Amino acid sequence: MAGSGQRALRAVSGQGWVRGSGPAVLSRLRDAAVVRPGFLSAAEEETLRRELEPALRRRRYEYDHWDAAIHGFRETEKSRWSEASQAILQRVREAAFGPNQVLLPLVHVLDLEPKGYIKPHVDSVKFCGATIAGLSLLSSSVMRLVHTQEPTEWLELLLEPGSLYILRGSARYDFSHEILRDQDSFFGERRIPRDRRISVICRSPPEEQSPGCSPQSTDPPGCPPPVTDSV
Ligand code: OGA
Ligand code: MN
Repeated sequence: MAGSGQRALRAVSGQGWVRGSGPAVLSRLRDAAVVRPGFLSAAEEETLRRELEPALRRRRYEYDHWDAAIHGFRETEKSRWSEASQAILQRVREAAFGPNQVLLPLVHVLDLEPKGYIKPHVDSVKFCGATIAGLSLLSSSVMRLVHTQEPTEWLELLLEPGSLYILRGSARYDFSHEILRDQDSFFGERRIPRDRRISVICRSPPEEQSPGCSPQSTDPPGCPPPVTDSV
């Protein structure tokens, strides 16, 4: 089975698609930070890309404020999908979420230009629950996770086009995540050149809706992107 092969690979050498600061953190986060390379076929990746491109192309890349967590990006949220894309998203749901898990109805689509990157952050608990599942399109990238209390503990995820990553539980709450900028984009010794990258991110809703929280919050990135695409 592909899944058990991947697990053996990383347990033995720390290579494959997940590297870590040590065997303990790799083992502890085995089910909390997961990469499924080749989750999408080339045809599925193309289906998503073609469906997303028109809405993305209408927007400009944003560079923004000195403290913004994402640089060189444009984004949208999408609720209506073609049948082919719905089938893909259903597979993501089955792979990443429990059978009774409700998801946020809007899927977050983030387009990073070749120089774009995401600084370390933890998704706001006001807008996002325990599980984040993301598909990567077009370019490989490296996602780094660093423990917020113990910065010597880290993981690197190699996200190739067509891969799915899942962050849940401790990986989502106790570790920051970031997408490395081109000049820092290494998976261990291996250089991973960055080009334009699109991610399609499904999230579970916040565990508890706290009264008075508003999407205008200036929290780091996370669930509600500012723009909504209803097409
Ligand atoms: C975010 C984020 C990761 C990705 O938007 O909060 O961390 O895969 N995105 O684009
Ligand atoms: Mn995030």
